[in-house]
Amino acid sequence: MTRTFRMDEAQPRLLDDTAQGVIGTPMDRPEGPLKVTGKAAYAADNLPEGLAHGALVRATITRGRIAGIDEDSIADLPGVIAVIRDDRFVRNPAQGMADEAPVQPGDRIDYHGQPIALVVGESYEAARDGALRLKVRYDEDAGAEVDPATASETEDGDPTESGDWDKAVAGATVSVDVTYTTPAQVSAAMEPHAAVAEWKADRLVLRGSQQMLRFNRNEIADSLGIDPEDVQILSPYIGGGFGSKLGIGSEAVSAAIAARELGRPVRVVMTRQTVFDAVLRRTETEQRVRFAADGEGRLLAIGHDDRISNLRDEEFAEPVSSASQFLYGADALLFRQTVARVHRTPAGSVRAPGEAVGMIAFESAMDELAEALEMCPVQLRLKNIPEKHPVTGQDFSARALAECLKTGADRFGWPGRTVPGSRREGDWMIGLGVASAARPNMLVKAAARVRLSAEGAVVETDMTDIGTGTYAIFAQIAAEMLGLPTGKVSVRLGDTDLPGASGSGGSFGASSSGSAVFLAARKIRETLAGKLGCSPEDLTLRDGIARGANHEAALSDLLDGELVEEAEIEEGKTAESHFSSGFGAHFAEVAVNAWTGEVRVRRMLGVFGIGRVLNEKTARSQAVGGMVWGVGSALHEDLVHDPRTGHVVTRDLANYHVAAHADIPADMQVEFLEERDDQANPMQSKGVGELGISGSGAAILNAIHNACGVRIRDLPATPDKLV
Ligand code: MOS
Repeated sequence: MTRTFRMDEAQPRLLDDTAQGVIGTPMDRPEGPLKVTGKAAYAADNLPEGLAHGALVRATITRGRIAGIDEDSIADLPGVIAVIRDDRFVRNPAQGMADEAPVQPGDRIDYHGQPIALVVGESYEAARDGALRLKVRYDEDAGAEVDPATASETEDGDPTESGDWDKAVAGATVSVDVTYTTPAQVSAAMEPHAAVAEWKADRLVLRGSQQMLRFNRNEIADSLGIDPEDVQILSPYIGGGFGSKLGIGSEAVSAAIAARELGRPVRVVMTRQTVFDAVLRRTETEQRVRFAADGEGRLLAIGHDDRISNLRDEEFAEPVSSASQFLYGADALLFRQTVARVHRTPAGSVRAPGEAVGMIAFESAMDELAEALEMCPVQLRLKNIPEKHPVTGQDFSARALAECLKTGADRFGWPGRTVPGSRREGDWMIGLGVASAARPNMLVKAAARVRLSAEGAVVETDMTDIGTGTYAIFAQIAAEMLGLPTGKVSVRLGDTDLPGASGSGGSFGASSSGSAVFLAARKIRETLAGKLGCSPEDLTLRDGIARGANHEAALSDLLDGELVEEAEIEEGKTAESHFSSGFGAHFAEVAVNAWTGEVRVRRMLGVFGIGRVLNEKTARSQAVGGMVWGVGSALHEDLVHDPRTGHVVTRDLANYHVAAHADIPADMQVEFLEERDDQANPMQSKGVGELGISGSGAAILNAIHNACGVRIRDLPATPDKLV
């Protein structure tokens, strides 16, 4: 039976009262040894009997139509089986949580590198050879526009505004009006996109690398024109997603179509270059940030305008000013967005869409304001924390922003910060920087099933673990609730035949799907309490014994074989009256070489309030991973497009530099403040995955300014801009 939860039924103290002490502990990921010894089978590791291999053919023009494909051009190549060309091929991955097929452009080409056909071979090498040699004729359209700065087609979003802008600005003592530009980025997940498709009678079994199976099943069914019931997706292990695997993509759809046509299983693995070409990128941005303040540093006006880009029929628009709308308050607010339509690889969600790029500019501009006011940047931020959400008027639920700033400043030695350019160690100029962190917390519909028997518990849900710790966290939740050691809980994930979960995205996975696990386990507790004749609040489960107020019994005697409960948590019902967000503060110390402009990050500290911490180790890893990406965003990452064709130039991990081990200091500290968010979900936990990247790059840029007095507004901060 499925039981749906509403927030008013919450028993927020239950997790504290069960007192097993399992939740929150730094439990290792149980699948870790499988992954590092090569025993975990990722999508491409599945090699069913009779497997054929597909390689995606990609457009070599920017805009136009396919006039014809000369299949004879590769007919004599040894090992080539077929050329598959189908109007149902998708142009680019679905944007996530879509439930519908992504854009299927027929014979139209909208960007250089777009997947247009699949060559299938007996071996991967044969397929790849065929894909490279296949002759495609095009009707090229000369009207491609690839530069977002000059694109003739633009759309303005509805502005978000309040207060009297002109009046607020006129009354200001100090103001800042600055423009920042950030380059496009890619997710660069370690595991390339891959799919193995196999039809069992009329049912598609797809082994893929996907983040959100409940949606992905519907998306691929819609792409193929079949019933979602006739699709099973299996994604037990995923080598990173960061948004790039939120929606179904061309590797999965083409593999499914080819497998059906050929009557044998087909595997499609993207090369690294194809991943860069054909997977959603993060848009480049141009951002104008305006602040007006009185002489004491009280903000009178906050403005954040951005210009981003995407392909014409893509609805996704990077929410650049997301955090700018609630971090600080002012009399007047103005947020505007323009989307430029370009013929480039489509833009979509990349870790913390919005905050990741928006906060770099916004929090750097805040540093510029502090400088103009001759005020401490920590004090300036503390002074402007609003009482209510400045746009919606909602109350905030647990919000640790001030405490994170104060605690972090204390731990990091912030009072020792000197004026820009004044601290030097030999050839190196040293500086400290700070930035706030914020990322809204979401709750997404999710279901899970828990089975309890004398042997232990089993958790079953189609939730994914993209490297984030889901296997560990769900074992901890079930263990906590059912009085079991975590070794007695097995967790089954990544199979659409199991109850539909939230999927992994938007930092909502562990809390949303974990809440479903919590509720299913709570239902089991209620049943056991009934059998023992006590109220659920009085029940303790420990060491195989169930104790009520007056009775106790061996758990194995209470269980009639197996107890099975399924529960579902409802979408976003919790945040209507309150605004729930993770908050934090980033601190960075950098050294800038006076001769070469080389920047070395010497230490970083992130202090965060994320509600209840579900697993201290996986949460810390998420925070550190985000902070590392902040280093990459500030200093290295730059997805360069050819100005003639829009084709991605930096399309491998040699040319697109993500922060490497040598770029990251050993001293990366993370601290989580003790917090419970009663408005978030029944576990009082919030998302953490994207909070670490939100603002961290700004702390580095601000530290660079403090070190050498140079303000970098055109990212990344490469050495040529610093000397
Ligand atoms: Mo995330 S960018 O929603 O995987």
